[in-house]
Amino acid sequence: MESTNSKVSSVRHFNRFYTRQIGVLNQGLLDSPYSLTEARVLYELAQKETCTATELGSELNLDMGYLSRILANFQKKGLLQKEASPQDKRQSILRLSPSGQAAFALLNQRSSQEIKGMLSALSAPEQEQLVKAMQTVERLLSPRPQERPAFIIRPPQPGDMGWVVSRHGALYAQEYQWDISFEAFVAKIAADFILNFDAQKERGWIAEVAGENAGCVFMVKKSDEVAKLRMLLVDPQARGLGIGKRLVEECVRFARQCGYQKLTLWTNSCLLAARHIYQQAGFQLTESEAYHDFGQDLVGEIWDLEL
Ligand SMILES: CC(C)(COP(=O)(O)OP(=O)(O)OC[C@H]1O[C@@H](n2cnc3c(N)ncnc32)[C@H](O)[C@@H]1OP(=O)(O)O)[C@@H](O)C(=O)NCCC(=O)NCCS
Repeated sequence: MESTNSKVSSVRHFNRFYTRQIGVLNQGLLDSPYSLTEARVLYELAQKETCTATELGSELNLDMGYLSRILANFQKKGLLQKEASPQDKRQSILRLSPSGQAAFALLNQRSSQEIKGMLSALSAPEQEQLVKAMQTVERLLSPRPQERPAFIIRPPQPGDMGWVVSRHGALYAQEYQWDISFEAFVAKIAADFILNFDAQKERGWIAEVAGENAGCVFMVKKSDEVAKLRMLLVDPQARGLGIGKRLVEECVRFARQCGYQKLTLWTNSCLLAARHIYQQAGFQLTESEAYHDFGQDLVGEIWDLEL
C-alpha cells in the first residue's frame, strides 16, 4: 500500500496537472469579455430562473462584496434584471435579462466545444474511462449522505470472476497479510465454479453499490445432500451495510430451495465478522484445525447449517 506521504504527493501531482489542463480549457473564456468567476455567476444565474445574491454567494462560495461588484457590472451591461423580493425587503430577486441569456448561451456553447475538443483526442473507451474516473473523484470527495447507500444483488456476469479473484488476492493480503498463493487458491475455486457449473444446484451472487461490484458469494454442490458456501467477500468501503448478511441469507435460501440437507463452509478463526454472520444465520462450528498456508499460521474451521 502507498504511504500517506506518497498518496499526498500523488494527489498534489494530479492537482497541478489538472489545473494546468483546466487553465488551457479556460483560455477559451478569454475570447469572451468575462472572467472565470463572472462566467460561473452567469452559469448559476442561467440554471436558476430566479435567485437572491445570498443564495448565489453560498452556492458559489464567493465573497459577498466581490459578488455584489460582479452583479452591479452585469446590471450596468444590461445582463441582469433585479426586482424587490416580496418576502424580504433587503433582498432582490435576480434573473438574467434576454441579453444575459444570450451571453450565457454563447459562453455555454464555447465551453462545450472546448470539452468536446479535449474528449476528441481520446478513443471512445478512453472517454468512458475518463468520465467514470471523474465521477468517482466527485463521489469520493462529496460530503457523504447520512443514509445508507442502497445495494443490489445480481447473478455473476462475464468479467465478474476475475474481479472476485482479484479482490480476494488484494484484500486478504492487505487485511491479513496472506501471500499470493491465496489468490491462486481462489482462482482455482473460481475456475472450477465456471467449468463445472450446475445451473440447477449451484449459484453465485454479486452485490453492487452505486454501479460498482462490492461483494460476492457462491454456492457449489458438494454431494446430492450437501452444498458448500464459498468465497464470501465484501469490499471494505461497502462493509457494515448488511451486504454480507444478505449474501449468506441468499445462499441459505437457495440451498433450501434446491433440497439440500446441509450447507457447509470452510473459514478461518481470524475472520471475525464472517464468523459472526455465520453464527447469526444458525451455522454451528463442527471442526477446527491449525494449519500453515498462504504464508501464515492459521486455524481452519468448518461450520455447518442443517437445512
Ligand atoms: C465478512 C464480510 C463479508 C462481512 O461483510 P459486511 O457486508 O460488512 O457484513 P454485514 O454488514 O452484513 O454484517 C457484518 C456483521 O459483522 C459484525 N462484525 C463486524 N466486525 C466484526 C468483528 N471484528 N467481530 C465480530 N463481529 C463483527 C457486524 O457488527 C455485523 O453484525 P450485526 O449486523 O449483528 O451488527 C466482510 O467483513 C469481509 O469481506 N471480510 C473479509 C473476508 C471474509 O472474512 N470472508 C469470509 C470467508 S469464509
